[in-house]
Amino acid sequence: MYKKIKNILNKKQHNWLITGVAGFIGSNLLEELLRHNQKVTGLDNFSTGFNRNLDEVKSIVTEKQWNNFSFIEGDIRKLDDCNKVCKDVNYVLHQAALGSVPRSIKDPIKTNESNISGFLNMLIAARDAKVKRFVYAASSSTYGDHPTLPKKEDKIGKPLSPYSVTKYVNELYADVFANTYGFKTIGLRYFNVFGARQNPNGAYSAVIPKWINSFLNYEEIFINGDGETSRDFCYIKNAVQANILSAVTTNPESVNQVYNVAVGDRTSLNDLFQLIQNKINQRIESYKMIKPSYRDFRIGDVKHSQADISKIHKILGYIPTHTIEDGIDESLEWYINYLKK
Ligand SMILES: NC(=O)c1ccc[n+]([C@@H]2O[C@H](COP(=O)([O-])OP(=O)(O)OC[C@H]3O[C@@H](n4cnc5c(N)ncnc54)[C@H](O)[C@@H]3O)[C@@H](O)[C@H]2O)c1
Repeated sequence: MYKKIKNILNKKQHNWLITGVAGFIGSNLLEELLRHNQKVTGLDNFSTGFNRNLDEVKSIVTEKQWNNFSFIEGDIRKLDDCNKVCKDVNYVLHQAALGSVPRSIKDPIKTNESNISGFLNMLIAARDAKVKRFVYAASSSTYGDHPTLPKKEDKIGKPLSPYSVTKYVNELYADVFANTYGFKTIGLRYFNVFGARQNPNGAYSAVIPKWINSFLNYEEIFINGDGETSRDFCYIKNAVQANILSAVTTNPESVNQVYNVAVGDRTSLNDLFQLIQNKINQRIESYKMIKPSYRDFRIGDVKHSQADISKIHKILGYIPTHTIEDGIDESLEWYINYLKK
C-alpha cells in the first residue's frame, strides 16, 4: 500500500463503516483497513455479496485484527439498519448498491431502491451520527453521452441507463447535504474497477472476471461490438487508495467534491482479450489459445471511457500504484487459485 496511507493509518485507530462490505470493493477495503489495525463495522444484505469474501479476509489478517471487525447483516433500504451501523463511526465508505447497467435496465425499480433510497438513508444516518466524512461509490457512468475524452469531473452528459441516473442522483444528494446541513462528503467516480474477489459468475458480472473465468474453462468469450470499445480499467488497489485518502484528507478544498478514480489510460476490448490470454498462456503450460466471438454492441454502454485523473492527484495526492498489466497479473494469481477450489 501507498506509503503515505500506511503512515496515516498506523498513527491512530479510527472507527470505520463499510457498507457493501461482503462485495468486491467493500471486502478489499476491509482487508486493507484491518491490516492496519483499524476498527471496522460492516453492513451487507448479501444481495450480490458473499460470506466467502469475508471468510477470505478473515484468513488473511491476524486474529487480533479480525477481532476489530463487527459485521451486521442489514439493508440500507431500512433507515433503522443505517442508524444502527453509523453509531460512533468516524469515516463511512459507502459501497452498497446494485451495480450493473443491464441489471438496471431489466429492473430499474430494484436498482433505484438500493441506489437512491438506500443512499439517502445512509446520508441521513451518517449526518445524524455526526460522522467526520462520508465517502461514497459514484460512477464513471455519470459521464453518460458526453463525448469528450479524457473525462473531466465537471463535464457530464445525459445518463444512458437507470443505473447511471442513480449514481448521478447520489452526487446531487451529496451536494444538497453539503449545502443544506454542512455535511462533508466525497464521491469517487470509479472507472471499471477489477481485482480479487470480483464475482466472475452470473449474468451481471464484469468483463475482466467473466473473461478470466471463461478463458480458464475454455468457454466461448463474447465481445460486444467490434472490440474497439475502450475502458480505463482500474486495479482495486488504486481504488482502495482513493477511498482512504478521501476519508483522512485534511485539505479543506477536498470535500464536497467528486473525483475520477482510474489510471488515466484506455484499453480496447480486443487488447484486453489479448492481454489476459497472453498472461494466462505464460502461466499455464500447454494452454490452448482461443478466439473471441463478436456480437451486437450492448445498449446503455458508452463506446469509450478514459479518465483525467489530475484533480484527484492534485487535491488528494492520489497516484495509481498499479497499471492494468500489474492488476491483471495479481488478479490472475487470485482467480487461478480461486477457481481451483
Ligand atoms: N466495480 C466497478 O467497476 C464499479 C464501477 C463504478 C461504481 N461501482 C460502485 O462501487 C460499489 C461497489 O461495487 P462492487 O463492484 O464492489 O459490487 P458488489 O456487488 O461486489 O458489491 C456491492 C455490495 O453491496 C451489497 N448491497 C447491495 N444492496 C444492498 C442493500 N440494499 N443493503 C445492504 N447491502 C447491499 C451487496 O450485497 C454487495 O456485497 C457500488 O456502489 C457500485 O455501484 C463499482
